[in-house]
Amino acid sequence: MRALEVEEFGGPEKLKVRDVPKPEVGEYEILIKTAYAGLNFTDIYRSRGDYKNSPTYPTPLPYRLGVEGCGWVEAVGKGVTRIKAGDRVAFTRVHGSQAEYAAIPAIRATKLPDQVSFKRGIAIMSHGITAHYLAHDAYPLELGSKCLIHAAAGGVGQLLVQLAKKQGAEVFGTVGSREKVEIAKARGANHVIEYSKVDFRDEIMRITDGAGVDVVYDSVGKDTLIKSLNSLRLRGFCILYGHASGLVKNFDVLELAEAGSVFLTRPHLQHYVPTEEAYQARALDLLAWLQDGTIDVTIDRVFQLEEAADAIDFLASRQSKGKVLYEVFGEGQKSKF
Ligand SMILES: NC(=O)c1ccc[n+]([C@@H]2O[C@H](COP(=O)([O-])OP(=O)(O)OC[C@H]3O[C@@H](n4cnc5c(N)ncnc54)[C@H](OP(=O)(O)O)[C@@H]3O)[C@@H](O)[C@H]2O)c1
Repeated sequence: MRALEVEEFGGPEKLKVRDVPKPEVGEYEILIKTAYAGLNFTDIYRSRGDYKNSPTYPTPLPYRLGVEGCGWVEAVGKGVTRIKAGDRVAFTRVHGSQAEYAAIPAIRATKLPDQVSFKRGIAIMSHGITAHYLAHDAYPLELGSKCLIHAAAGGVGQLLVQLAKKQGAEVFGTVGSREKVEIAKARGANHVIEYSKVDFRDEIMRITDGAGVDVVYDSVGKDTLIKSLNSLRLRGFCILYGHASGLVKNFDVLELAEAGSVFLTRPHLQHYVPTEEAYQARALDLLAWLQDGTIDVTIDRVFQLEEAADAIDFLASRQSKGKVLYEVFGEGQKSKF
């Protein structure tokens, strides 16, 4: 079968579609025939070795890419009861989904109702579950909370804006272009700041009369962190959940005191879905909200596995505005089970 792998850390040129054996299903695993696999920033981080010392997200070489996917269940392990062959499922927090077949832990699979397409189902997995824990747990938003969401027209960003609004928050979003301003507004952001043109911290302070926001959700990292901290109210919270502009290095903790005795955390998704129950509860909330219209998703571009370098460039160069997918067998391929 075809699978996207890296044999050594580096840029997109290191990614290769290789011919590898179809995986065997373990006792608590299910074997998936892949319809689509999601592309996420974590694939970029992992393929260039950002997480090479991470016990949470180990990256042994050669590394088969892909943390997210959807497709048909072809076989189930002896210990699996909730899922059966022929089910349509979507999943995240796995390894090796960017392949024709993937053997994944059954606890990660969420069954898709017939009326939810694979593309829409997969779009609420990594991005949706991340937005869910950010809005409800990393900093629990409530009526009147003021939150700043960077990259508000991005994949996670669009979902986080919608969940923040659902919680009753006043949403400030930053975006990198005029077109993205309209996207963030359409998702419900109250104030959208084009941070390539104006200083977002000055804008936040102007709009809040110098008070600052309760929380900043920062996925940009190196280019924004210090200003994010300085956009907070006294003792506010910064959730640094990604580093699209580069890793934050040599951070001086006195910055936290100087910004107003603020708090900073750098969460991994894994720690907000430590059990099957926690994982499935978030996924099922998102599926329900997708079906009742509380949230919507944007499917942006669909690439082939052989186009991995172009797909990564598209995501990494700020062109994407929603979910980026690899088509493997695709939506229309009927299961033979
Ligand atoms: N910790 C977790 O649990 C977790 C889980 C999933 C994802 N994430 C993080 O969530 C973030 C968003 O992921 P996504 O897939 O939805 O991507 P995305 O937000 O659609 O794309 C990244 C966006 O970041 C902004 N950006 C600002 N400066 C950038 C730079 N120098 N290079 C590249 N992008 C830059 C761009 O938006 P503008 O043009 O609008 O600035 C870009 O479109 C990523 O940082 C990812 O690591 C974290």
